[in-house]
Amino acid sequence: MRRLVIVSNRVPPVKGRGRAAAGGLAAGLSSALKAFGGLWFGWSGEVKDTQETKVTTVKQDNYTLATLHLSKENHEEYYNGFANRALWPLCHYRPNLVAYDRSFSVGYYRVNSLFAEAILPLLEADDTVWVQDYHLIPLGAELKRLGARQKIGFFMHIPWPASELVVTLPEHRALVRSMFSYDVVGFQTDRDVQSFLDYVIREADGTLDPDGRVTCFGQTICVRAFPIGIDAKSIAALAVQPEAHEHAVRLVDSLAGRQLIIGVDRLDYSKGIDRRFSAYAKLLVRYPEHKAKVSFLQIAPPSRMDVSAYRAMRRELERLLGRINGEFADYDWVPLRYVNKTYNHMALAGLYRTAQVAFVTPLRDGMNLVAKEYVAAQDPENPGVLILSRFAGAARQLREALIVNPFDEQSMVDALHRGLSMPLEERKSRWRSLMTNVEEHDIGRWRDSFLGALTEA
Ligand code: F6P
Repeated sequence: MRRLVIVSNRVPPVKGRGRAAAGGLAAGLSSALKAFGGLWFGWSGEVKDTQETKVTTVKQDNYTLATLHLSKENHEEYYNGFANRALWPLCHYRPNLVAYDRSFSVGYYRVNSLFAEAILPLLEADDTVWVQDYHLIPLGAELKRLGARQKIGFFMHIPWPASELVVTLPEHRALVRSMFSYDVVGFQTDRDVQSFLDYVIREADGTLDPDGRVTCFGQTICVRAFPIGIDAKSIAALAVQPEAHEHAVRLVDSLAGRQLIIGVDRLDYSKGIDRRFSAYAKLLVRYPEHKAKVSFLQIAPPSRMDVSAYRAMRRELERLLGRINGEFADYDWVPLRYVNKTYNHMALAGLYRTAQVAFVTPLRDGMNLVAKEYVAAQDPENPGVLILSRFAGAARQLREALIVNPFDEQSMVDALHRGLSMPLEERKSRWRSLMTNVEEHDIGRWRDSFLGALTEA
């Protein structure tokens, strides 16, 4: 492979400008591009009154970052609309939050074709193109329609839902048909692959070929699970850097000998932060020995605030926070700390290493890289405990975590108690298996297995 071209809605910030991106996608892909060099194309993050077609390019590390602004209308219909008011809630099993309008899908296809037109002149004949996530499902079909002959793969970072949910989307068939323009379609877990195949076979008369490939809409493609990982070695190395240590020391000082539970998530309803807060409050009632002996730090950078479900969720968390601290706090103890800030990986690694328990309880999540980063940042001689929702893709790999059902509050309360009380030997032995898994299934393996499948396709 000569050059890798990555296309995603979000791109990393231009060096020296902007803040670290929230979410695992940007971090994962930066490391993939570091290995090959090439081009990364996406939305600049800026919204203007009118849609320009001018692409801005910047050289960064060993790749070119190429970006396009979005007009207000495109941003509203494509990003806030179809991507985040329709696809996101649907894929996270929240049909009650789906707000659907025909203009959303019109805007979605318009931006995908705008992206395709902007990318096409930048492509070289032997490039490999790798399209990322639910914002850009029809991009491959648009590129092929415009004459692209390169191999094109697609990776879905979020869950693929059950067919009963997919068919609630008015244009479900056109959307799935467009996925058959890719050479390889990757999902996070076998369960996502199963759900996708279920749709293809039952709803679209597709067939599963004996070699494992899938034929539908007159095309045969490779469909597989490629669970995304992290750069485990570099997170482990960051966690012992002096700067990470400084953050850890500040936090430890503020805890005054108390244990720490940590949660780090984009402020998103799929993360189940409200249920997590309630479970923590119940812990203080059911196991009062933890009162004044523990603090819970929830870091939650705001996200997608143009979408009302996100604003409602933010208000609800603030209400819960006030209630819990009002009920349990003392003049020298704040039980729940809630921070709407983005921290860089260095700081997070230091904070993860300080926490006895990571409380990672999404109601539905494609993978969840926070769970993996927490494991990688631990001190092997005194590791913490990972509490992980069974509905995160990561739970299919990280089996030595304390696996909980976030809809069952009692299971979360008991897991918190168990995590805070777990003896060192058990913590070490669980952590060793978790770390082995995180190291084996790291970001390099994800990148190589996907690109390997694309080369073979
Ligand atoms: O992983 C899902 C995802 O939507 C990524 O595509 C994205 O980088 C991240 O979450 C953050 O979301 P947003 O780009 O909407 O802020």
